[in-house]
Amino acid sequence: MKGPIGVFDSGYGGLTILKEIVKELPQYSYLYLGDNARSPYGTRSYETVYQYTLQCVEWFFSQGCSLVILACNTASAKALRTIQQKDLATIAPDKRVLGVIRPTTEVLGQYTRTNKVGIVGTIGTVQSQSYPIEIAKFYPDMKVYQEACPMWVPLIENNEYDSEGADYFIKKHLQHLLQQDKDIDTLLLACTHYPLLIEKLQQFTPSHISILSQGEIVAKSLADYLQRHPAIENKCLQTGSLAFYTTDDTKDFDNKARIFWGNKVESKHTVL
Ligand code: DGL
Repeated sequence: MKGPIGVFDSGYGGLTILKEIVKELPQYSYLYLGDNARSPYGTRSYETVYQYTLQCVEWFFSQGCSLVILACNTASAKALRTIQQKDLATIAPDKRVLGVIRPTTEVLGQYTRTNKVGIVGTIGTVQSQSYPIEIAKFYPDMKVYQEACPMWVPLIENNEYDSEGADYFIKKHLQHLLQQDKDIDTLLLACTHYPLLIEKLQQFTPSHISILSQGEIVAKSLADYLQRHPAIENKCLQTGSLAFYTTDDTKDFDNKARIFWGNKVESKHTVL
């Protein structure tokens, strides 16, 4: 039986990734789930993020998805490995769950000339050390500097990201990060929400530093994955449909989702 490709996030942010995936692969059908009732994930413990993410993955499987993308960096950092290595074998050996960290780290070397990169993300993503660990597998000599930016997600979700208050927190974290090494030439936005800050970040970052969002990279990597895995590709429905689900209030989801998606979103509520 064919089913949609599942795209998961703790809330609305994963829509920035889904948007790019749909641009790259419009022929497939997609099912999006935001676990808004329990977000943010960025400040939660390993065990909690893992349990929540696993429940959501099981929900996608119950909806007929054979492939699920964890668009959330925090979930990718804290839950993906255990789900892939432990849970899938028992709950759904023929299904696959992918994250956003590996596809991004794989290509980082194409962007930096100094081999020094800065990474911004949630506290959970940064503390997990997932990025430095993954990067070292592909680029053992790359120097990685990280900065957790816990205020950026709430500023975006409260539509305050274009305010003076936001400028203060954006500058503060950028300075913290960039002062660690003057040769950092690439800044990776390792959080679903941060592409919304791109203009501000460009304004406050020296022009020789390139700022990378993950959406396009993840979308290209998914296209490549589907080509290399025909057995999974064959189980992905191709009707070009899109459905949005939230574990919380749909009106609130639809209002806020618009900022990330760029267009009107009509979501449905689901209970896990
Ligand atoms: N989606 C999360 C991420 O990419 C950010 C929001 C949250 O903390 O739940 O890390």
